[in-house]
Amino acid sequence: MALLPRHLVAFLAAVVRRPVTVGAVVPSSSRLAARLAAVVPRAGKPVVVELGPGTGSVTAAIECRLGSRGRHVAVEIDPILADYLRIAHPRVEVLVGDAADLERLRATHHIPAVDVVISGLPWSLINPESQRAIVDATARSLSPGGCFTTFAYVHGLSTPWARQFRALLGEVFDEVLTTRTVWWNLPPAVTYVCRRPQAGAAAVAAEHSNPLS
Ligand SMILES: C[S@@+](CC[C@H](N)C(=O)[O-])C[C@H]1O[C@@H](n2cnc3c(N)ncnc32)[C@H](O)[C@@H]1O
Repeated sequence: MALLPRHLVAFLAAVVRRPVTVGAVVPSSSRLAARLAAVVPRAGKPVVVELGPGTGSVTAAIECRLGSRGRHVAVEIDPILADYLRIAHPRVEVLVGDAADLERLRATHHIPAVDVVISGLPWSLINPESQRAIVDATARSLSPGGCFTTFAYVHGLSTPWARQFRALLGEVFDEVLTTRTVWWNLPPAVTYVCRRPQAGAAAVAAEHSNPLS
């Protein structure tokens, strides 16, 4: 273990501790992370929320894209991983919590409407009710021009839960783009880029753009 990089040791420890919430055997590659972070605007001071940051491979790509601009909030359910992330990425606001509680977390931590939500959550291990709760909370948290992006492993795309998840995205968002496969990842993955929550979700999003109101 001593020969492994620290982030990998921390990730593997989390896999052993909570295999079902981690849902991967290794962190995302830097290429997948960069693909996910590519939706972060290069200008301005965007508010970025990351769901399921783990040991921070995607966190690092988002930080690289942001420089010192904007606000980067990461929501991680595992308190030990959250502690690891706070030390590895001191600029990032790391919150311990469930992604499904995003709106409550926004209210408590005074987080305004979000420009970009980037998810590293293991969707294939999350039941359909929780998937919906997380995607709906995400849609309601986005600013009108906001963007949600996430990934799916290619080998699992035809499973019922993966299909159901893709259908859910299409139901909640007006536009869902599937990017080319990132082969340099274990396992290879595609990303979904989702914009414009559909009318119902968008209306609620407008109402909730300031979670403190
Ligand atoms: C597949 S790992 C991805 C880690 C990292 N984003 C990456 O791509 O390497 C999934 C992460 O999501 C976290 N997680 C799982 N369910 C969650 C939930 N409901 N809310 C917040 N975090 C969650 C896990 O603890 C784990 O850190």
